[in-house]
Amino acid sequence: MARRKIALIGAGNIGGELANLAVSRQLGDVVLFDIPSKENFAKGKALDLEQATSLTGADARVLGTSNWEDCAGADVLIITAGIPRKPGQSRDDLVAVNLPIIRDVADAAKKHCPDAFVIVISNPLDAMVYEFKRRTNAPAEKVVGMAGVLDSARFALFLAQEAGASIKDVRPMVLGGHGDDMVPLLSYTTINGLPVRQLLGKDVLTKLVDRTRKGGGEIVSLMGTSAYYAPAAAAIAMAEAYLGDQKRLLPCAAYLQGQYGCRDLYIGVPVIIGKGGVERIVEVELDEEEKGMLKKSVDSVQKVVDVVKAAG
Ligand code: APR
Repeated sequence: MARRKIALIGAGNIGGELANLAVSRQLGDVVLFDIPSKENFAKGKALDLEQATSLTGADARVLGTSNWEDCAGADVLIITAGIPRKPGQSRDDLVAVNLPIIRDVADAAKKHCPDAFVIVISNPLDAMVYEFKRRTNAPAEKVVGMAGVLDSARFALFLAQEAGASIKDVRPMVLGGHGDDMVPLLSYTTINGLPVRQLLGKDVLTKLVDRTRKGGGEIVSLMGTSAYYAPAAAAIAMAEAYLGDQKRLLPCAAYLQGQYGCRDLYIGVPVIIGKGGVERIVEVELDEEEKGMLKKSVDSVQKVVDVVKAAG
């Protein structure tokens, strides 16, 4: 069987770690794409990663490029093109600078990679993935946003630490937009099936929910730029679910057409990812408090999407 092709658009912090994980997990050959002024940087990272394969034994090629033709026929496209946050910025502050970038990427992706499963990471996530889908008119099942897997991973870590439990046993679920209004679902979060509300007190959980919501900002304020190891690992889990037809149930930004009371919007919800892409959007009952939180989060996303739409 021919090797799969993973095209990474943006060879920065997340792009580099995506490439590293894709190679080490042997998902396929990797193309690390960036703009012409960063082409040598992309080539250098690619060469460095390829040289590492002589030590890890991974059979995968890595190509650095600024030529979209090198991405042609990609099976998976992961987009990190754009500018990350700086301390004090919200993800929504990035909309003006990242909108023209996602539009450029969408036009090129439509031309060169029409059949790819596309995972958008660029922020503000829910609006950027919406714009990618709108601009390319790609099928909804082939375009997803990476947010819930990362937000859930952050929530899981905090829960595991607080409960003194193994990270392996935490089953978190965070829905909604990828912003400070995201919705960690306590009613569906368990430690190996045991409801987390029975294991940790209300005040502790409130604190952990708050830390999860601000989890990205916490790292930005420590590093001066945004996170990349966990975001890359989250997107790779989604890519692997697609490439391996794993049917994993993961919270992802999916295009909603009536589900959860939303229409024509990308919002983080539980989905099944397999070889068909987003094979199913799973609707679950939410309690009144969660419904209210989700509504607030959806309203925040809608405001940013309105800004995107108003820009043409
Ligand atoms: N096409 C391809 N790459 C682009 C384009 C474009 N049109 N415009 C910018 N880039 C590249 C930049 O040159 C840079 O190398 O995207 C890369 C982004 O890398 P970093 O600045 O290191 O940012 P990173 O931390 O990887 O985050 C990227 O993901 O989580 C989000 O908020 C984050 O929007 C940001 C994105």
